[in-house]
Amino acid sequence: MGAMNYRHAFHAGNFADVVKHLALISILSHLKKKEAGFAVVDTHAGRGVYDLGSEEARRGGEAEAGIGRIAGIADGPETLQTYLRLAEGPRYPGSPLIAARLIRPQDRLVAIEKHPDDAKTLAATLSPFRRARTVEGDGYARLPALLPPPERRGLVLIDPPYEAPGEFGQAARAVAAALERFATGIVMIWFPIKSAPAAAAFAGEVLAAGPRKALRLDVEVAAQAETKQGGARTGRLAAAGLLVVNPPYGFAADMRQALDIVAPRLDGTARLDWLAGAE
Ligand SMILES: C[S@@+](CC[C@H](N)C(=O)[O-])C[C@H]1O[C@@H](n2cnc3c(N)ncnc32)[C@H](O)[C@@H]1O
Repeated sequence: MGAMNYRHAFHAGNFADVVKHLALISILSHLKKKEAGFAVVDTHAGRGVYDLGSEEARRGGEAEAGIGRIAGIADGPETLQTYLRLAEGPRYPGSPLIAARLIRPQDRLVAIEKHPDDAKTLAATLSPFRRARTVEGDGYARLPALLPPPERRGLVLIDPPYEAPGEFGQAARAVAAALERFATGIVMIWFPIKSAPAAAAFAGEVLAAGPRKALRLDVEVAAQAETKQGGARTGRLAAAGLLVVNPPYGFAADMRQALDIVAPRLDGTARLDWLAGAE
């Protein structure tokens, strides 16, 4: 692994975070339909909270083009309303804080973060939540020992920075390892789409693990990415995807409904495809 240069503070609240966090909220609300407790393992958790007024957050204008465009939408499905309520104000919640705020007393969150500074901030952010635990370490290495969770229900969220060459392969192998131990578990993995063939190859690698159901969700915001500044590309990410293995029943419909409202506001398009199984 190379140096850890990726800092999510530059990207917090961007279009990819919006979609990822909507999906997280939808999955949690489906899990909460049953009384039995569940576990959430967030392998690349980040700091848990991001100040959207900070220099880092403002520099690339990513939050402004993401959460900034959908804040205040008054209608739309429950998932969208829950997200907007959680993301209200200048302190944008990352995935572990969203999960910590939505789980019940019978549920549990394990949030793993490798960067020591971010892990420290995360531990402080999650300290008020009795059912949340922060682990400083390598999410890929720590994941197998956490599976299957004793609850036998739950979600594994894999949200790597993809800064190291070969991280696509590492992420795909993590999904396979998770399914080997927890075949019925929900696994959601985020990925950037810089090249369509590379994304398809990645999806193919995840499918090779043999999940019974797998859904791919892509969002593209081409208009933002092609913006030129002084003749140079901004370099901003234009498209991103989620692979959701074993999505709960109703997740796809819920996301369709939310994205019908959200995608046009982001100047983007969304598509959902079943790669394995269907509803
Ligand atoms: C995309 S950010 C996570 C954002 C977070 N999941 C959210 O939605 O708010 C990726 C994070 O992974 C951390 N990281 C990088 N390599 C890691 C590894 N091997 N294990 C755990 N965390 C890692 C980075 O420091 C960074 O905070």
